[in-house]
Amino acid sequence: MSTQLDKVKELIALREEARLGGGEKAIQKQHERGKYTARERIAQLLDEGSFEEIDMFVRHRCYNFGQDKKSYLGDGVVTGYGTIEGRLVYVFAQDFTVFGGSLSETMALKICKIMDMAMKMGAPVIGLNDSGGARIQEGINALAGYAEIFQRNILASGVIPQISAILGPCAGGAVYSPALTDFTIMTKGISYMFLTGPKVVKTVTGEDVTQEALGGASVHAVKSGVAHFAAEDGEETLSIIRKLFSYIPQNNLEEPPMVECNDPIDRLEDSLNEIVPESPNRPYDMYEVIGAIIDNGEFLEIQRDYAKNLIIGFARFNGQAVGIVANQPKYLAGVLDSNASRKGARFVRFCDAFNIPLVTLVDVPGFLPGTGQEYNGVILHGAKLLYAYGEATVPKVTVTLRKSYGGSHIVMSCKQLRGDMNYAWPTAEIAVMGGAGAVEVLYAKEAKASEDPAKVLQEKEEEYNKLFCNPYNAARYGYIDDVIEPRNTRFRVIRALQQLATKKVVNPAKKHGNIPL
Ligand code: HXC
Repeated sequence: MSTQLDKVKELIALREEARLGGGEKAIQKQHERGKYTARERIAQLLDEGSFEEIDMFVRHRCYNFGQDKKSYLGDGVVTGYGTIEGRLVYVFAQDFTVFGGSLSETMALKICKIMDMAMKMGAPVIGLNDSGGARIQEGINALAGYAEIFQRNILASGVIPQISAILGPCAGGAVYSPALTDFTIMTKGISYMFLTGPKVVKTVTGEDVTQEALGGASVHAVKSGVAHFAAEDGEETLSIIRKLFSYIPQNNLEEPPMVECNDPIDRLEDSLNEIVPESPNRPYDMYEVIGAIIDNGEFLEIQRDYAKNLIIGFARFNGQAVGIVANQPKYLAGVLDSNASRKGARFVRFCDAFNIPLVTLVDVPGFLPGTGQEYNGVILHGAKLLYAYGEATVPKVTVTLRKSYGGSHIVMSCKQLRGDMNYAWPTAEIAVMGGAGAVEVLYAKEAKASEDPAKVLQEKEEEYNKLFCNPYNAARYGYIDDVIEPRNTRFRVIRALQQLATKKVVNPAKKHGNIPL
C-alpha cells in the first residue's frame, strides 16, 4: 500500500516527466534548431509565475502504426492560462519535441478546451504554433481536430482577440487557424507557412522552391500580407504580442486599456506647418506626421513591409488607444491599390470590432489605374475598405493633409461614410480629380482649336485649382468640419476623441452583411 506521501511523490514525478515533453534529447535538438521549447516560450510570454497549466496528463488514444507504444504526457501541446500585464489570457503552445508538434485528436481537444474557456471568460487566446501539421498516424481524427479548432476561431472572431505566433513549421491546413485569427507574427529564419510544401510543389507544378522562398517570414510579411509582423527571433515574437495587448481590450464588450499620458495634449508641432512641399508632386514622409501628433511618438506599426503606400498601426492620443490609417505619399505617391485596400479594410474591421477609435490621415491621389489592378479585382478590394469604413461605428476622426481625390476621397473615411470629425489642413485639395487631368477632359477641344493650346489648358487649370484644389470648397458644404492649423493637429484630434467618447451608433439588425470578399 502506498502512503499519501508516495502518491504526492508520484504526482511530482509525473509532472517532471510531462515538463520534459519528448525528452531531453529532443529538447536539445530543439535548441540546436535555434528554437525554444513550448514551456520556455510561455514563460517568456506571460507575467512571471502567472502560468497555470491545464491537461498535463492527457495522452493520445491512437493505436495505428504502433502509436500505442509511444505516448507522452501532454501530447505535444502545453495549454493553460496566465496574465500579460496583469490581464488574463489563454495560451496554447505546440511542443515540437513530441511528434514534431503534430496535431492529434487529443491535442485538438486540449486547444478547444482553452478556446472555450477564453470565450466563457471573455479573454484573448494566444496560439504559439510549431508543428508538422496533422499527426499522420491519426488520419481523419487529426483533420476533425483541426476543423473543431477552425470552427471556434470563427465563432470567437470579433468577440475575443486571437493572436497567432508562428515559431516553426506551420504547414497544410494548419495555416488556416492563424489565418482566421486577428494577428499573425512570424519569426525570421525559423518559421514558415504554406498549404503545400516544396516537395508537393515540385511534383504538381515542377517548380523548385525552398521553404523560405515559399512561405518564410520574408514572403508573408512582404508579398502575401499573411503575416502582420516578422520578428528577428522568438523573444521578439513574444514581446510583440505583449505590446499588441497594451492597445487591445479583453473582448468586444470592453474598452481598450487607458494609460496615463505625460505628453502635453496641447503640444504644438511647428514643423507640421511646413511639412507639405510646394509642388504637389513632391512627397513627404507620413511617418513624421504620425510621430509628431501621437503620444510620445510611440507607434506600433502593423504590416510595415506590405503595401507600404498605406500605413496602419496602433498609437495613443492622451492615453487612449487608437488605430491609425494613413496614406504614405513617399511610397507610390500614397495611391490606393488592391493590397493597400485589403490591408486597410481588415485593420479597420479589427478596430471596429474591438471598440478602438480610428484616426485617418489622408493624402491620396486616387486609385492606381491599369490592367494590373483591374484584372486583380481592385474594384472589389477597394470596396472592402469602403465597406469597412462605412460599417464602422467606433469614433472616426479624419484629417486631410493634402490630396483627396475622387473615389479615394470617399473611401478614406469621408463625412458621408459617417466620419465623425473631418478636419483638413489649409493645404488640402479635395476634388473629383487633379487639375491637369480635369482640364484635359473639359477643354481638350477648346485648346486644340486655339492658337496656343498649352496656354488655354494652363489658364483653365489655374481656374480649376482655385475653385476646387483647396479645403474651403468642401468646408463650404460642411463636408469638412473645420480647417485646422497643421501644428495644432494633435490637440484637435484629442479634443475630437474626447468629445466622441460617448458615441453610440447601431447598424441595422441583420444576420451579417455581405462584404465584397
Ligand atoms: C507525425 C510527425 C509529423 C506529422 C513531423 N513528425 N511531422 N509525426 N505527423 N505530421 C515527427 C517526425 O516523424 C519526427 O519524429 C519528429 O516529428 C521531428 O520531425 P523531423 O522531420 O525530424 O524534423 P525536421 O527535420 O525539423 O522537419 C520538420 C518538418 C517535417 C518539416 C515539419 O517533419 C515534415 O515535413 N513533416 C510532415 C509535414 C506534413 O506534410 N504534414 C502533414 C500536412 S497535411 P521522430 O520520432 O523521428 O523524432 C495536414 C493536413 C491538415 O496538415 C489539414 C487541416 C485542414
